[in-house]
Amino acid sequence: MPFNTALTRRLGIKVPVVQGGMQWVGYAELASAVSNAGGLGILTALTQPTPEDLRKEIRRCRTMTKNPFGVNLTLLPALVPPDYGAYARVIIEEGINIVETAGNSPGPVIKQLKAANCIILHKCTTIRHAQSAVKLGVDFLSIDGFECAGHVGESDITNFILLSRARQSLSIPFIASGGFADGQGLAAALSLGAEGINMGTRFMCTVEAPIHQKIKEAIVQAQETDTELVLRRWRNTTRLFANKVVKDAVKIEKESTTGKFEEVAPYVSGKRGRQVFLNGDKDFGVWTAGQVIGLIHDIPTCDELISRIEREAIEALQKSTSLIVEEGQVPASASGTVGKNTNNPGAEVWGVGKSKL
Ligand SMILES: Cc1cc2nc3c(=O)[nH]c(=O)nc-3n(C[C@H](O)[C@H](O)[C@H](O)COP(=O)(O)O)c2cc1C
Repeated sequence: MPFNTALTRRLGIKVPVVQGGMQWVGYAELASAVSNAGGLGILTALTQPTPEDLRKEIRRCRTMTKNPFGVNLTLLPALVPPDYGAYARVIIEEGINIVETAGNSPGPVIKQLKAANCIILHKCTTIRHAQSAVKLGVDFLSIDGFECAGHVGESDITNFILLSRARQSLSIPFIASGGFADGQGLAAALSLGAEGINMGTRFMCTVEAPIHQKIKEAIVQAQETDTELVLRRWRNTTRLFANKVVKDAVKIEKESTTGKFEEVAPYVSGKRGRQVFLNGDKDFGVWTAGQVIGLIHDIPTCDELISRIEREAIEALQKSTSLIVEEGQVPASASGTVGKNTNNPGAEVWGVGKSKL
């Protein structure tokens, strides 16, 4: 049963689920699988060393899906920043009309993309930044709660508050990002006013995600407590999988008397993080994961995952409606349900979950 939200209508997708940009993960294999399954797959521009490589990746993805897919362009502070304008030019020249933007000072790139009529999903972690992006003319906000993987921002507001603030104060549609893995989450996001969800960590743990099987298994093993925040001291707070390298980095960050970033830089190097996805050693370097890691119990195909999310969301929404009855029709006694968690069918599927106790 197709969904009908502002997101599905505008992007021409069946299920309101977006696969967020992911450095070293967002290649054509994953993006095309998500789009083929009825969601929106997204290529990550900066996984490609040059704009011309991005052009090839876009063309490769086109051979793998006939459905719409997008490109993520993340603008991060760097001593020598990539040529963002050139990446945006390739996106436009290749006829991509859905772009996920994220990061600092996105104004010039958004202007360039909007001039070419691209639909922009802009990701941000505060309502203030969301409102600035609205003024830049973006089409959707992707509201990333504190639970999310990667750059969580500095305000530490989780999605229960952030999404309702978005509903109360934004003049354009938004999607919910951070902490989503299942259809119950999608139903909750829709109830809070979002038009769909964006997922990162959950999509890393699918058959088509082009990362080492051992990392997917590490995600299945992990719990919601297995992430760590680093780089707060430099106001660039990032949520990563809590391995030994991250714990060492946090120790230096907390104890350094100089406060020099150079001391922690070798620990948080993206180069070693990239190797993790290739060699399967979860402790080789730092890598990104969100608290939702605790809700991930299997490694499905994208098609299985998105079909399941669709089914669960429909069931959850129908169930919510059935909780409302006409006045006078409330059953006299609910004794048959005492002691049973009637609102938790998932418990039967996943058993006691991941408890290591
Ligand atoms: C491995 C990984 C790499 C990521 N890289 C990027 C990136 O380059 N740009 C970006 O905008 N977001 C990036 N993200 C964030 C995701 O797009 C998404 O916003 C986030 O994962 C949502 O939280 P969730 O993991 O709880 O679903 C990354 C996430 C992961 C898990």
